[in-house]
Amino acid sequence: MTRLFNQRQQAALMARRAQGLYRQHAVFAGGMLNFASNDYLGLSQHKAVIAAWQQAAKAGVGATASPAVVGFHATHQALVASLCDWLGFEDALLFNSGFSANQTLLHTVVEPQDRLFQDKLNHASLIDAGLHTKAHHRRFAHNDSQALARLIKKHNAQAGQDWVVTEGIFSMDGDSAPLTELSALCQQQGAALILDDAHGIGVTGEQGRGSCDVAKIKPDYLMVTFGKALGIGGAAILSTQQNIDYLRQFSRHYVYSTAMPIAQAAAIQCAIEIVRWQPELREKLQNNSAYFDQGLRQLATEFGELGTASMPALMSARMPTLAIKPVILKSSVRTMHIARHLAAQGIQVGAIRPPTVAPNSARLRICLSAAHTEAHIDKLLNELRHALAQPQPIENLSQELAC
Ligand SMILES: Cc1ncc(COP(=O)(O)O)c(C=O)c1O
Repeated sequence: MTRLFNQRQQAALMARRAQGLYRQHAVFAGGMLNFASNDYLGLSQHKAVIAAWQQAAKAGVGATASPAVVGFHATHQALVASLCDWLGFEDALLFNSGFSANQTLLHTVVEPQDRLFQDKLNHASLIDAGLHTKAHHRRFAHNDSQALARLIKKHNAQAGQDWVVTEGIFSMDGDSAPLTELSALCQQQGAALILDDAHGIGVTGEQGRGSCDVAKIKPDYLMVTFGKALGIGGAAILSTQQNIDYLRQFSRHYVYSTAMPIAQAAAIQCAIEIVRWQPELREKLQNNSAYFDQGLRQLATEFGELGTASMPALMSARMPTLAIKPVILKSSVRTMHIARHLAAQGIQVGAIRPPTVAPNSARLRICLSAAHTEAHIDKLLNELRHALAQPQPIENLSQELAC
């Protein structure tokens, strides 16, 4: 007999296929030109980082326990010290993923009588965490500090704490939050600011210190990930001694989970040194970004269909996008078709469809890296031109890989 949960799941899977939104993992084929990863500085392949991992792994591969038991080693301690020195915070906690760090942060610090205001385009890890708190949870219009100010005013209450949560650089649009304005607003209103700088850390700011350094602000909590510009994986939350101590006591994700592997911590520390002291990687990324923008602008004039939505991100006066280049094609089928054409030519780009992004805003998410050359970018732009010139397909593309 088919049970109810099987029927529900079957129906949901069928609906996904019918909408052209079915996701599948494909094994990434080596040798492809990779414009889909978040390895913005090419550090996942850096010899020194690999050597640091290998060297540390000689002493054993696993942390063997929660950090609250015997899983916190000298290598973790050294990484925490490096992070605090680099980013200017008193203390930090390490996590195995940014998703987990965001979940635990909101679960642990936000209380039922509080109000939680999140940018509408915040990452799923933040939105989900917010939905699971018992606080009054509201999303404000993307990057709109005036809308946030109105919301805070409207939901003003005597009891509880106001929390504002935003990303530094948004993962699917590549644009930057107005952090100076948001931080000033939080100070005025007594709200606490939580910043997820997954896509800013390593990429912007002096010594790659990220969005805080660019905006000259200090949030109450900063979450950074190591799986993007640092090329490895894992995450950290940084804050004051007391705030981190509170998390160390009460964060269930931290206390009841095996600590990050020691070799991973050693590799991250090595990657931080490279990020800090080799600014040429960021300069290369900036040059690649300007080169790509010029080519995309040309394509946008040739093909009006690139859509106005991609242009503000491309041309943003406040801070031009650096590594993340969304090309918004709107149609999911069209997006899949173009991604498939590029893949056939040996070029991997992200094909992002709803519900990851808003309905009718499917896009190619093109990510640049310091490891790309101008010849790589030329190849991408030429193939994009060919793909855009082709008529839209009518075949069923629901089996394709996408996010
Ligand atoms: C803004 C943002 N926060 C958090 C995460 C989650 O980080 P991780 O991949 O380390 O789980 C991501 C990952 O895509 C992200 O884009």
